[in-house]
Amino acid sequence: MGSNQKVIVLAGVGNLGKYVCEKLLSGSQWSLVVISRQTRDWFKQREIDVRITDYTESSILSILDAVHASALISFYNAADASFLGVHCAMLNACMASQSCQRFIPSEFIGNIEDFPLYPGIYGDTRAPFRQILQASKGIEWTLFQNGWLMDYYLTRDKTYMPPIPDEFPIDPNGWKACIRGTGEEPQSWTSCRDIAAAIVALLAAPEWEPVTYVCGQWGSFNEMIPIVEQFYGKPLPTTHRSKKEIQGNLRAREAAGDQDSLILAQVDEWMVAGASECPRAKTLQHRERYFPELHFMTLRELLESSKCREMF
Ligand SMILES: NC(=O)c1ccc[n+]([C@@H]2O[C@H](COP(=O)([O-])OP(=O)(O)OC[C@H]3O[C@@H](n4cnc5c(N)ncnc54)[C@H](OP(=O)(O)O)[C@@H]3O)[C@@H](O)[C@H]2O)c1
Repeated sequence: MGSNQKVIVLAGVGNLGKYVCEKLLSGSQWSLVVISRQTRDWFKQREIDVRITDYTESSILSILDAVHASALISFYNAADASFLGVHCAMLNACMASQSCQRFIPSEFIGNIEDFPLYPGIYGDTRAPFRQILQASKGIEWTLFQNGWLMDYYLTRDKTYMPPIPDEFPIDPNGWKACIRGTGEEPQSWTSCRDIAAAIVALLAAPEWEPVTYVCGQWGSFNEMIPIVEQFYGKPLPTTHRSKKEIQGNLRAREAAGDQDSLILAQVDEWMVAGASECPRAKTLQHRERYFPELHFMTLRELLESSKCREMF
């Protein structure tokens, strides 16, 4: 690593984190270290420095100090109580470390200021950690928010994000849609590459705000369907799920105690509430303050650019 490069540590690089790895590797300003429970071929192929951790505070601290980390960014994605424990361990390790002064926890959702408990799984995992973070001292942090990942409009060969046809209303692989609510509810989307570029740009900013918003496109699913149909050149078979059905699903799945299917109903609830929509005024302020050099792609632009991209 170059002597002037600051070391950025990424934790839990599964899907989204890969884009941040690629962005960091493409420049010369930062040096990248990944902490993970295991190494993977994807890291080996790119000669990424992977340090194995069990996500305990002592393990994370020893890595942060060994590599002289300046910032830690988490993509850790467990839906259970380990989310809080692991993030507390990361926060404490940053605060105890010799050099790590900045921390971005694993959020990457939507309008958390007006909808702090949505989707429900975030209310259970992220909301308690946000309170701990707010009470912390001696570390700079931001809760990075991007709305939906726009990459879910791409076929599986064009993105690192695995398809989620039961969660995202438009399924470009199975070629069908299930619109939740009326389809007019406000949403926002940002491409994974733009999220990565924004995170890396943020690393160079002198000061952070408690919440950072980015967005490539605002709109509704009803507005996006014709764009998708035009790009893929065929009509999209579309069904609907009403708000009433979503509420019924929530109650039934809470009673049944099946967490995976409950999370799907919670995401439905989140999208029909309009909670994926990053607040416009603040998002545009952040664009001007932190990302004046970046262009955030619209859905049309992402689809067009994907024609000449092969991921695998
Ligand atoms: N807004 C959106 O549309 C949207 C969509 C997808 C994801 N997200 C958010 O973005 C963040 C990163 O998501 P991702 O898809 O990149 O995460 P992911 O690949 O599913 O998981 C990231 C890492 O979390 C760690 N992990 C530990 N226990 C786990 C468990 N039980 N299940 C899954 N992962 C576990 C693993 O780290 P190791 O490397 O140590 O194994 C894994 O590589 C999350 O906060 C997620 O909620 C937002």
